Amino acid sequence: MAASIVKRVSRVKKLNVSHISARYKLLTGSRHFSTSKQWNKALVLGVYENESTDSIDFTGTARKFDEKADGKISQLLLTVKKPLKCGKTRTLHAVVPEFSSVLVTCIGKRGEGYDELETVDKGRESIRAAVAKAVLQLRELGENEIEVDSCGDTEASAEGCHLALFSYDDLKAEKSRKPAVRISCATRYSQDKNSMEKEWRKGAILAEGQNLSRRLMEMPANLLTPTKFAEIVKEQLADKCEVLVRDKDWAESMKMGSFLSVARGSVEPPVFLEIEYKGRQSDSPLALVGKGVTFDTGGISIKPSQGMDAMRGDMGGAACVAGSLLSVSKLQLPVHVKAFIPLCENMPSGSATKPGDVVTAMNGKTIQVDNTDAEGRLILADALCYSEQFNPSLILDMATLTGAIDVALGEGAAGVFTNSENMWNKLQKASVRSGDRVWRMPLFNHYTKKITECQLADLNNIGGSRSGGACTAAAFLKEFVNNKNWLHLDIAGVMSNSGDVAYLGKGMSGRPTRTVIEFINMISKETKN
Ligand code: BES
Ligand code: ZN
Ligand code: ZN
Repeated sequence: MAASIVKRVSRVKKLNVSHISARYKLLTGSRHFSTSKQWNKALVLGVYENESTDSIDFTGTARKFDEKADGKISQLLLTVKKPLKCGKTRTLHAVVPEFSSVLVTCIGKRGEGYDELETVDKGRESIRAAVAKAVLQLRELGENEIEVDSCGDTEASAEGCHLALFSYDDLKAEKSRKPAVRISCATRYSQDKNSMEKEWRKGAILAEGQNLSRRLMEMPANLLTPTKFAEIVKEQLADKCEVLVRDKDWAESMKMGSFLSVARGSVEPPVFLEIEYKGRQSDSPLALVGKGVTFDTGGISIKPSQGMDAMRGDMGGAACVAGSLLSVSKLQLPVHVKAFIPLCENMPSGSATKPGDVVTAMNGKTIQVDNTDAEGRLILADALCYSEQFNPSLILDMATLTGAIDVALGEGAAGVFTNSENMWNKLQKASVRSGDRVWRMPLFNHYTKKITECQLADLNNIGGSRSGGACTAAAFLKEFVNNKNWLHLDIAGVMSNSGDVAYLGKGMSGRPTRTVIEFINMISKETKN
């Protein structure tokens, strides 16, 4: 199987908005290839950090390349005194005939692995960051065909490259867009090319899922309405999943009064997506639920205008569900997944819900909406109730739910609220591998009391004070879940990347898509769901 992932423009399915549709492609580095293109080939090689000034500690692959080049690479590297440090690179030109550039990137100390305090596999993270930096530097130099060292962890290397090369420039003029780059794994001196290709493909697919999430999150809200989101998901997933697009009438017939109370302020009709991937026969699917607010103005409790553009990413939970399903289905994981995505805009208008209004959720609970900006929990309440009807073995919801989780954890980790120690351990393990971290938060009764103290209804949609805002939001959701394996991920803090994650670049992050895929992968191996 070819190691490189290339899709040509002609293979891209069109969207309705014609001038945008021609530009809408899903794989980074996959665009604007022409058959007459001259390839400028480059090679990325990894080295470990090494104090010695007279030897280079190459990765297995890099050592073989150096041997084949009669030691020229090591000689050139040793012409300068200072050894390479983790995250630093050195670029050599015209060392070997097939490559115009050989970029040597330092992947940290040999043997680095799980770091308990950091709760991450440092070795894998360093590889992702090191190859990411390498391919971006080579793209800057105009190289467009790059072979990359597996660096001892092919999957992590593929993830780093494919995530780094993503850029959302579909709406920009051709000349301002990043050039396409073809990347592949440097397998030529490998003992087991097949398994290396397989690992590379897995890493590329993991990144592809996250890149779909990023693209959806980044898309402006005038283009990505609930209807458009559903269309794109259909395009992306329909060949491997069943995608049902439910309308407002359906939501009304299901008595989803809480979801509909958010949608009613907008002229854009709400959509409820139901997606099924059946990689295995079972009657207890794994349920994914994602908040799909395609734009959150706050409604009548309107947000300040500064930074409001970021609220186009308030469908990050929905995007991560779609991205995860893309990868799960492409990897053909033996698992049964059902996904539930309520989609709507939160707008102020004459028909919008007003503070103090009381609405009724699908399970009959009444909710006093004291703040229309706490809308995520309202749409999730009905989606969670609905998901329970399918006898799920577990429910995992993701939502850009609260500013409070950003205050607590920032971009460091997604906040996880769960009633299951077992599920928590699995999710954390998955995040150690993916490098996209999670941190457990409490579901105490203390917080439930804050939202059950309500003047007019069973529940209030806000906790009364700003304190513990992420916890009161989670406590609210808990009122709509009976499942014993429930995980709620508040992903508002990790919604965008300000530069903290070296291999992601600035912008909407698509986090924690890869953690969720890894989690589903683990579950698929362990259980018969
Ligand atoms: N979508 C926001 C949360 C958010 C904040 C997401 C920052 C991404 C970045 C959510 O709907 C919201 O507005 N929550 C309110 C709740 C409050 C009114 C109780 C918040 O966090 O301020
Ligand atoms: Zn809001
Ligand atoms: Zn919101």
